[in-house]
Amino acid sequence: MKRYIPPQIPRLALAFAIVISLFLVLRHLLIPDTFGKYGPYRAASMDDYSTIEIHYAGQQACFECHQDIEDLKALDVHSGIHCETCHGPGQKHSTSAEAADILKPTGREFCGNCHMMNAARQKDAVLQVDLTKHNIGKNCTECHNPHQPWEMKK
Ligand code: HEC
Ligand code: HEC
Ligand code: HEC
Ligand code: HEC
Repeated sequence: MKRYIPPQIPRLALAFAIVISLFLVLRHLLIPDTFGKYGPYRAASMDDYSTIEIHYAGQQACFECHQDIEDLKALDVHSGIHCETCHGPGQKHSTSAEAADILKPTGREFCGNCHMMNAARQKDAVLQVDLTKHNIGKNCTECHNPHQPWEMKK
């Protein structure tokens, strides 16, 4: 006795076969070579990351040669701010010890980045001064030591 197969079944099977093969081919083409070697990621990405140049040294590195400055800073309101927040990336300078390799921030606008009047900021979280009124015409560091702002320079 011949079993009756409805005509749409072979067509449906063919459609499935095409879609599944297409998926397998695309998957093969799209997944990078080293995917899955160690886990659900591209193993070669580790080589990519290890070649990225390091810019920040972390402030522990600065202490090795500038412990005096850390001692000052630790006593005052800027103690929570890491060196590289103000001095920028310091990896190059930490190995060269050349002044040219590190930023020495200057100008009222620099301190203003954190301290200028800004209605969008919480008032007493970081104290704000009006740059157009507070001791105008003078650089902030003439009076405030940046590493110890309340120990006024005489
Ligand atoms: C290996 C020792 C060493 C390390 C580590 C080091 N410094 Fe220095 N730094 C020096 C020396 C030496 C000078 C003085 C260079 C000169 O005057 O030619 C200096 C000078 C500076 C200056 C003054 C630059 C200028 O224009 O006068 C700054 C700012 C500074 N360092 C910040 C840092 C910071 C921030 C770090 C950590 C990221 C750091 N240093 C790590 C040795 C070091
Ligand atoms: C709040 C910002 C700020 C932080 C945080 C900071 N510095 Fe400075 N630093 C300055 C400024 C501004 C100057 C320039 C001072 C000047 O022109 O008189 C300076 C100057 C220096 C100098 C040059 C010598 C001197 O005393 O003027 C060195 C060295 C230095 N900083 C190292 C460090 C190190 C190391 C740290 C972390 C322990 C650090 N700084 C943290 C703002 C900062
Ligand atoms: C990265 C942000 C940042 C920069 C840049 C910065 N400060 Fe500050 N400053 C702070 C913070 C945070 C405090 C501590 C606020 C607190 O704990 O009350 C502070 C506190 C102070 C205070 C004491 C105010 C108080 O709360 O009693 C003075 C004065 C001051 N800074 C001056 C300066 C000067 C001068 C400069 C530039 C050399 C400077 N700051 C740059 C973040 C900054
Ligand atoms: C002529 C010296 C002098 C100069 C220049 C100067 N300050 Fe001051 N600053 C003071 C004195 C003194 C005080 C404390 C009395 C007061 O609030 O005026 C003070 C207070 C502050 C305070 C705390 C404000 C508060 O509400 O208690 C901050 C923040 C500050 N200064 C940041 C700066 C910044 C940023 C600059 C540069 C744009 C700067 N200062 C320039 C002398 C100076």
